[in-house]
Order: sequence, then C-alpha cells, then structure tokens
Amino acid sequence: MVRLEHLGTRYGGQVVHRDINLCVYRGKILGLVGSSGSGKTTLLREMIGLQRPSEGQVWLFGERLDRLGAAELARLHRRCGILFQGGALFSALNVFDNIAFPLRESRLADEALIRQLVYLKLAMVDLSAEVAMRLPAELSGGMIKRVALARALALEPELLFLDEPASGLDPITAQDFVELLGELHRELRLSVVMVTHDLDLMRDLCDQVAVLADARLAAWGSLDNLLESEHPYVRQFFHGPRGRRVFTAAEAAHE
Ligand SMILES: Nc1ncnc2c1ncn2[C@@H]1O[C@H](COP(=O)(O)OP(=O)(O)OP(=O)(O)O)[C@@H](O)[C@H]1O
Ligand SMILES: [Mg+2]
Repeated sequence: MVRLEHLGTRYGGQVVHRDINLCVYRGKILGLVGSSGSGKTTLLREMIGLQRPSEGQVWLFGERLDRLGAAELARLHRRCGILFQGGALFSALNVFDNIAFPLRESRLADEALIRQLVYLKLAMVDLSAEVAMRLPAELSGGMIKRVALARALALEPELLFLDEPASGLDPITAQDFVELLGELHRELRLSVVMVTHDLDLMRDLCDQVAVLADARLAAWGSLDNLLESEHPYVRQFFHGPRGRRVFTAAEAAHE
C-alpha cells in the first residue's frame, strides 16, 4: 500500500529522517513508534503526500507520488482516511458536518446519501444519532476520537492513518477504542498505519512495528522480532518497566 525508499527529511539544518526504507502491506496494521520529535507525524504526512521528503521516493498504492499532479494525488487521497494527532475536529462545525465534510468535498454523494452515510458511520463507531447535532466542545475526549474516526472512515478508505489514536484517553476508554479499531480492521479489511506509544495497543493490534530512533529506522518487524532486537533504544522501549509488564502479561496469557 505504501513503500518508502531511501527517504530523507531535513528542516533547514535539522535532519529528521535518514535513509528510511519501509513498506505497509495490504490488510495489515503497522505500528510506528519513536520518541517525541523523532519524526513520526512527518513520516505519515510524507506517506500520504501532504509533504514532500527531501530525498528518496514514496509510492502510494503503487504510484510514485512525486510524479503525480494535484488531481491524481487527490484521487489517491480519496482512498485514504486520516485521524490527525489530537483528533482535530473543525470546532465550528457540528458532528454531522464534521463527518460529512470529506463526503461533500469529494462531490461523490448528494445530500440524501450523505445523510445516510453520516449516520451509518456514527453507528459504526458506537455513537448514537443524537450526538450528530452537537458541537465538538460539547463532547468528551473519547467521543471526539470516535467522531474523528468516523470522519476518517467517511470515504470508506482502504488505508487508514492514525496518529496517536488513544492518547489522552483514560485506560478504560482507550481499551474500548482499541477494541473498536480491531473490529473495524477485521470487518473493513483496512490497511492501517498507526503512530502509538501505547504498548497495550501495539500488542493487541499491530502485525508489524517500525521504530524510529536517531533519524533512522532502528527496527522493523513483528513484535516478537522487536523484542529480540539489540538496538539500545528498541531494548529500552520494549524492555523498560512498562514493556515488561505488558509483554510478560501477554506471554503468561498465551501459555
Ligand atoms: N513544518 C516544520 N518546520 C520545521 N520543523 C518541523 C516542522 N514539522 C516538524 N518539524 C520538526 O521535525 C521533528 C519531527 O517532528 P514530528 O512532528 O514529525 O515528530 P513526532 O515524532 O510526530 O513527535 P510527537 O511524538 O511529539 O508527535 C521535530 O523536531 C519538529 O520540530
Ligand atoms: Mg507527532
């Protein structure tokens, strides 16, 4: 679904990515981790062509992004859903209009169909129809995430980008949200790229994990592979106190 080849990113003199090679496979969930400022959000933006890398190539659905015009890129964007970091709903629009936004923008549906689709998406993320007329300021953090997810799913994407989907939620709400993501992934057979620091989320959902450290891809593989990695940052991330708690509990549950 996505292929990065020798990707490099610089902001002025600051090197954010160096020689990143990475693929996102159809139907799989790739987790992307790295410390704050390691360039995860930037990498997502480059994968979807919202930003050009300084070096290297990005292929999205088999097409090289630097060779596409604006109209062709927009056509590929219609196959993608994005949940931005922080949820980022339009604060002046109610829930209905937030979810309808990408549908209206795509001009693929008339208002009657849009209405149906919006209520369908609300049900998909387990929100009641009554929420549709509320403004974002009238929602809880968990509800905002669900609405943002409904909006990301509005165009029935094949590929979903999630930037820290569970951050800011309490553990129980986060767990519910993880279960919802898992169900939607199975039902809709989505391919997903998910930035997350949440080890529980990673263990429960990700087929593969990629770790950014020191501007490079420090590791990329299944969680089992990564747990064996000798890279200092990867070891620290997965074998610190939190990692031990999450993964030892998982191993015990498997036995
Ligand atoms: N438009 C920009 N102009 C200049 N520097 C930028 C720009 N966007 C990001 N950066 C820098 O690039 C680096 C990576 O930023 P990015 O937002 O991708 O990190 P991140 O891994 O998503 O961090 P976090 O976990 O905090 O969200 C940071 O040092 C940031 O300051
Ligand atoms: Mg970020």
